[in-house]
Amino acid sequence: MTDRPVVLATAPFPAVTMAALDQAFACLRLWETPDAADLARVRGIAASTLARPIGDDLFETLPALEIVANFGVGYDNIDVPAALRRGIMVTNTAGVLDEEVADLTLGLMLATVRRIAAADRFVREGQWELGAFPLSPSLRGRRIGIVGMGGIGRAIARRLAGFAVQIAWYARREQPDCPWPRMGSLIELARASDVLIVIVPGGAATRHLIDVAVLDALGPDGVLINVSRGSVVDEAALIAALDDRRILAAGLDVFADEPRVPAALIDSPHTVVLPHVGSASVLTRQAMGQMMVDNLTSWFAGRGALTPIPEISGR
Ligand code: 8YV
Repeated sequence: MTDRPVVLATAPFPAVTMAALDQAFACLRLWETPDAADLARVRGIAASTLARPIGDDLFETLPALEIVANFGVGYDNIDVPAALRRGIMVTNTAGVLDEEVADLTLGLMLATVRRIAAADRFVREGQWELGAFPLSPSLRGRRIGIVGMGGIGRAIARRLAGFAVQIAWYARREQPDCPWPRMGSLIELARASDVLIVIVPGGAATRHLIDVAVLDALGPDGVLINVSRGSVVDEAALIAALDDRRILAAGLDVFADEPRVPAALIDSPHTVVLPHVGSASVLTRQAMGQMMVDNLTSWFAGRGALTPIPEISGR
């Protein structure tokens, strides 16, 4: 028996994070199916956005639970109203992954517009010796719309400022200190954009935000880049828009039913598809793990959580 706080990890984290959890806490692994007596001692959850959703059914089995620390800035894997009702603290890893995800977003946008992944395949398949790679679309003269202007949206906009492109954005909340113009609505932004970059939180409020109307407003020369959550895009509408050439191309890091990617998106010559790697560098995943552990440590030391989610912090 240990007097260290008992924490439940819902999925395997990077080895350094698992080691830090094991060192600071008595860390149970959900995938090793701990018994009811062990679960009754759990005071904290180390939650993975990629593991099972966290809500009432799990909370019922954890009567001593005080805090859910999420490994990720997005926390649509957690039923927040259920946690709040039970007085459970929820934290995320806000801030530590913004620049990493923004880097990946710019890479994905360039790969999609300039067809970098296809060009790479072209060389590997020996096609270059048979003829030149077809000319690609261009980023020149494109207007870029960003849907969502949190920390990652801002990091994307800062990078785009160096690309000599027009930038506009839309999010529900106004942001008086934001230097780029905010459009009056999402449809207005889509109409005024040649590339639409989606970086809003997932969850019920943003489900299928990018629907047929938004895709049609983006138009036949338009490029969609999604680095948020698969649920934000109506995937069937996107597949139809790509097939019917009602939009030009899509760069996707996230999908509705990960890790399953619809064959229509894999087979399309108009997509670049990535396996949800926005934050997936060794450096940033370690920083995310450390922030999750630090939140738990601070909480159990009686110093409060470091990065509560906005519903709790009011930020
Ligand atoms: C990771 C993410 O894929 O932070 C998020 O919301 O989607 C990504 O950073 C995820 O946290 C991995 O568990």
